[in-house]
Amino acid sequence: MSPPALTVTDLTVDYGPVRALREVSLTVPEAGFAAVLGSNGAGKSTLLRAVSGVLPYHGGTVRSGAVTAGGTALHGRRADQIVRQGVVQVPEGREVFARMSVADNLRAGALGARDRKSVAAARERVLRLFPVLAEREKQRAGLLSGGEQQMLAIGRALMAEPRLLLLDEPSLGLAPIMIGRIAETIRAINGEGIAVLLIEQNATLALQLASYAYVLEVGAIALEGPAAELAASAEIRDRYLGVSQEATEEEIAAAGPSRTLARWSG
Ligand SMILES: Nc1ncnc2c1ncn2[C@@H]1O[C@H](COP(=O)(O)OP(=O)(O)OP(=O)(O)O)[C@@H](O)[C@H]1O
Ligand SMILES: [Mg+2]
Repeated sequence: MSPPALTVTDLTVDYGPVRALREVSLTVPEAGFAAVLGSNGAGKSTLLRAVSGVLPYHGGTVRSGAVTAGGTALHGRRADQIVRQGVVQVPEGREVFARMSVADNLRAGALGARDRKSVAAARERVLRLFPVLAEREKQRAGLLSGGEQQMLAIGRALMAEPRLLLLDEPSLGLAPIMIGRIAETIRAINGEGIAVLLIEQNATLALQLASYAYVLEVGAIALEGPAAELAASAEIRDRYLGVSQEATEEEIAAAGPSRTLARWSG
């Protein structure tokens, strides 16, 4: 059996005197799909920053614990080395380069020493997945709608040919129809064998997409289980699923069938 795409073990993180994560442990199986739910300030983004190695840029420090991906230790490595290990983050708020063109944003995602042929192939696949980006390739990224910018942010991450994609609240601030489209795309990406760790406040959405889910509360895992079980739990419904389940199911259905991709990893 191949090692998990991600294993986080007893991870404790501080921002100066503020403890943001306490002994958090979780696993994403190879090609699996896990979600982390939690309300504002629970520590969701901190968890992703610790995994992707950008925590120091936010003034955070890993106090203890371990992070491994595909059997390789990630903690202590630089962010660019972690990307080369196939672990790529789509940050909260998308953070596309607004003044750069769509094409240049995608190019920026294809890291360093890769040959032109494989970069071109990755670009082809991203444009097939997000045709709207193909139409807008020469446009400045800042002129795209919020949903299109989210597509670009995901597309840019895919340019690095990840084995594990880390998504920080991709549905945030998007219209329902756009949430449905992004959801279908994420499902299609996972269907191609790319493992996904999805961070969401939209619990309904996350539990529909993921197989397994964790609930973060003030920096600690309060609850975990198969997504279907959490979705059916009365406690989860009351505490985290404010909106109606049916609405999101309709949103996903309205987005139509998922697109098929050529294989990402070759
Ligand atoms: N750069 C930072 N410096 C200091 N404290 C921070 C920093 N970033 C986050 N925190 C604190 O760490 C805790 C966890 O924040 P984090 O951003 O990880 O939460 P979150 O679950 O992603 O919230 P949201 O849903 O609002 O994005 C919060 O108490 C927050 O105030
Ligand atoms: Mg966050």
